Amino acid sequence: MKNTAIIGAGVVGTAMGYLLCNAGYTVTGIASRSLESAVKARDFIGQGEASTDLAGTARSAGIVFLTTSDDAVRQVCENIAHRDGFMPGSLVIHTSGALSVDVLMSAKNKGAVTVSMHPLQSLPSVQEAVKNIPGSYFCLESEDESALDRAREMVRVFQGKELNILLGGKPLYHAGAAAVSNFFVATIGFGLQLHEYAGINRQDSLKALLPLIQGTLNNIEKIGIPAALTGPIARGDVQTVEDHLVSISRENPDLLGLYCELSKYTVELALEKGTLKKDSALKILDLLQQHAPGYH
Ligand SMILES: NC(=O)c1ccc[n+]([C@@H]2O[C@H](COP(=O)([O-])OP(=O)(O)OC[C@H]3O[C@@H](n4cnc5c(N)ncnc54)[C@H](OP(=O)(O)O)[C@@H]3O)[C@@H](O)[C@H]2O)c1
Repeated sequence: MKNTAIIGAGVVGTAMGYLLCNAGYTVTGIASRSLESAVKARDFIGQGEASTDLAGTARSAGIVFLTTSDDAVRQVCENIAHRDGFMPGSLVIHTSGALSVDVLMSAKNKGAVTVSMHPLQSLPSVQEAVKNIPGSYFCLESEDESALDRAREMVRVFQGKELNILLGGKPLYHAGAAAVSNFFVATIGFGLQLHEYAGINRQDSLKALLPLIQGTLNNIEKIGIPAALTGPIARGDVQTVEDHLVSISRENPDLLGLYCELSKYTVELALEKGTLKKDSALKILDLLQQHAPGYH
């Protein structure tokens, strides 16, 4: 039951193969679109046969990881199923955050059990992945209890923690993760741009903002959201919000939409926190509406 095949010899496939191998699993084969990637992964893992025969490689194992790029997972699964590459009772796993477990339906139709197991982590290289996968959260999705139990065992192997979602919840789960990670970066970029208009170059600005960013993260970790919210909206400083809007519209009106939308959401959080009074919230919302693009 510990024989494992890796299909898709990229960052995640290689790192997971390596970690499994170190935990006593046998990696029987690594297959990829190119033999070069499969060989590179095999050399890193130190075990298994490198190949471009996806079905033959899958057939060699009771656990099959499909770690191709998201766009290829469904098609690769269908091709392997079509060539009888999944053994009945085998566990077929994909690691995509965006895709539902349903994309593995063709494996299920061949008698395999299926699960999606997404490491909630940013993994830029194999070396970083080997360091960062242990201890990460894994989002598990399956309608099959036995597949979930086996996936939980794998999570333990990766020294990870389990995060359960509703069946069919993957797109919203992934949108949430993207909002937190990608929009965080975008929001900082937005702040740097406003600082540039104030005459601070991006490098100095980022350096100066990092302690603020770190302090905010510490507060979120300690007291959560909305308690960690501070600033003019949380305080109900209507005049300050108006000054922001006027200055941004003078400098670059294209940025007003983004500022207004983020502010509207911040008003909701501030009301939830209880520091923003209803009448101040209404004044801020009114200002935001007046400055929002398209208002006449
Ligand atoms: N990296 C992350 O931060 C991260 C985090 C969590 C989850 N994930 C998920 O993990 C999965 C793999 O991501 P990754 O970052 O490891 O991607 P990656 O480094 O780009 O590797 C993907 C591999 O898939 C192979 N591949 C693509 N199409 C194929 C096909 N038709 N047949 C066979 N092999 C094919 C490629 O093979 P060749 O090299 O041979 O062309 C490539 O090596 C994705 O579902 C991703 O969403 C990634």
